[in-house]
Amino acid sequence: MKRKNHDTLDIQLNWPGKSAPNDYTPPGFKVVETIGVMDNAERNRLYLGDNKNVIAGLLQTEFAGRVKLIYIDPPFGIGSDRHIEAGDGIDARKAYTDKWGNNLNTYLQMMQERLSLMKDLLTADGSIYVHLDYHTSHYIKIIMDELFGRDNLVNQIIWQRTGAHNDPLAFGRNYDIILFYQKSAGRIWNKPFADYDEAHLKRYFKQDADGLWFRLNNPAGKGYQDHTRNFGKGPVKPPRDRHWSVTQSQIDKWLAENRIVYTGSGYPFVKKYLDELPGKPVQSIWTDLIPPRASRELTGFPTQKPEKLLERIIKASSNPGDLVADFFCGSGTTLVVAEKLGRRWLGCDSSGVAVKIAKERLLKVRDAKGFEVLG
Ligand SMILES: C[S@@+](CC[C@H](N)C(=O)[O-])C[C@H]1O[C@@H](n2cnc3c(N)ncnc32)[C@H](O)[C@@H]1O
Repeated sequence: MKRKNHDTLDIQLNWPGKSAPNDYTPPGFKVVETIGVMDNAERNRLYLGDNKNVIAGLLQTEFAGRVKLIYIDPPFGIGSDRHIEAGDGIDARKAYTDKWGNNLNTYLQMMQERLSLMKDLLTADGSIYVHLDYHTSHYIKIIMDELFGRDNLVNQIIWQRTGAHNDPLAFGRNYDIILFYQKSAGRIWNKPFADYDEAHLKRYFKQDADGLWFRLNNPAGKGYQDHTRNFGKGPVKPPRDRHWSVTQSQIDKWLAENRIVYTGSGYPFVKKYLDELPGKPVQSIWTDLIPPRASRELTGFPTQKPEKLLERIIKASSNPGDLVADFFCGSGTTLVVAEKLGRRWLGCDSSGVAVKIAKERLLKVRDAKGFEVLG
């Protein structure tokens, strides 16, 4: 029997009322407030309005194809005002609008239209991170595959958002899902590293007499080559199937620094100290960014995300001076972090309270550049 090539199957998600995004003329936005001094034409902008209109409008300007990174944290379409806890005089019910309620069809239509517009805003080396949870992530994954191409999924990131969750009849639902897609190959990528945790240190590192942590690196690479090196005990051949991957002058330097250690294997290794290593490459399950219960950055806005989460994403997928956007910006976490990291930014929210909070947060960023509020 001939097997089907599944890669050539045209898999699409359908829902009642699915329609392709149609061309339309979005309503214009006016500058309602100018804050601070702006030094160039590509100003930071905070929009109050439906992001469909905002993005469609931006696509008709010089911003089309100019955004390096989009992070969005849309409502999950679960119909509940989860995390509603008003604080600091904020009426959370007004701050957070989730008008798609429980209707998955209208939610998916809404998301498809906006994701398709966002794609056209991205540069060829741009990336998009879509923050979701288990209610909708698998549906949105299929829509993203359709729009961006399956091969352009870079990671499904699991972000642990709380320590333990007591869901009486289920395993604790303690994480969100972030889908990370690139517009095309060759995206910006600044590989992130995290500090080694204690368990990792104890397992893979040793401490020297001064209490400094070090790891033993193998100076022999894969593949046999019949040459010798002197690691301080006369010429030695590499182990089986290996070759010495370092020059003699490098070894002499290490010998002078007292870094060569012979292990029980009879072969030499090189001491690498903790402060010489970049850290542990960050994996796609993020358990180290759980938001603290109390923090100065908390505004009382429901669903506010921690700055550290955005810091990791913005640093990994953009460079200083790049344009970063969040079209469901809520309390403005992405914009605040983008500003702190020297990126330019575009933000939007349909809630007046959200825009007000975002504006207030941005005003508190030290040495922030100017921005415009449009509505
Ligand atoms: C989950 S919250 C974002 C929280 C944000 N990441 C933060 O750190 O504060 C989603 C936001 O999307 C906004 N929103 C929902 N539909 C929108 C639309 N069509 N256009 C613009 N904003 C929208 C809501 O008002 C809400 O503030």
